Amino acid sequence: NERTFLAIKPDGCQRRLVGEIIKRLERKGFKLVAMKMMHASEALLKEHYIALRDRPFYGRLVKYMSSGPVIAMVWQGLDVVKTARLMMGETNPADSLPGTIRGDFCVDVSRNVIHGSDSRESAQREIALWFKDDELICWDQSTESWIYE
Ligand code: GTP
Ligand code: MG
Repeated sequence: NERTFLAIKPDGCQRRLVGEIIKRLERKGFKLVAMKMMHASEALLKEHYIALRDRPFYGRLVKYMSSGPVIAMVWQGLDVVKTARLMMGETNPADSLPGTIRGDFCVDVSRNVIHGSDSRESAQREIALWFKDDELICWDQSTESWIYE
């Protein structure tokens, strides 16, 4: 079963969007299998965003992401990597349709409230970076047969 790493960024926490964002993923039918609130270190964030290290905004990005608590989560479900990205909207909120998280709740690319893994490979790397194996919870939801054939 596919998993993805999602994180509500410090602006999402400050703006009290935690419940709203989790609610959308829950209602969709995805299963939450890990979650923790944490103040991410610059070292962790530099590693997390390593692919962007040569971009001009890398330093500011790491600073913003470590400026307050984040909600780190792992969500599981059919095509969850791709679908969570669709639910988030585009990187730039101006390109995000209303109805998406970024389309509904933010305006600035550098304050875009949520992170989501961009591929299954990224998801595996990011889950391993943010969580220990025993923090991932295996559980059956009684609603499963009403969400999947
Ligand atoms: P994440 O889910 O956070 O990884 O966003 P993404 O996959 O949609 O975008 P990407 O990985 O390319 O960039 C990571 C983050 O860097 C974005 O979410 C933005 O917060 C920030 N970012 C990306 N592009 C720009 C930019 O052109 N300017 C600024 N200031 N920030 C950017
Ligand atoms: Mg990304």
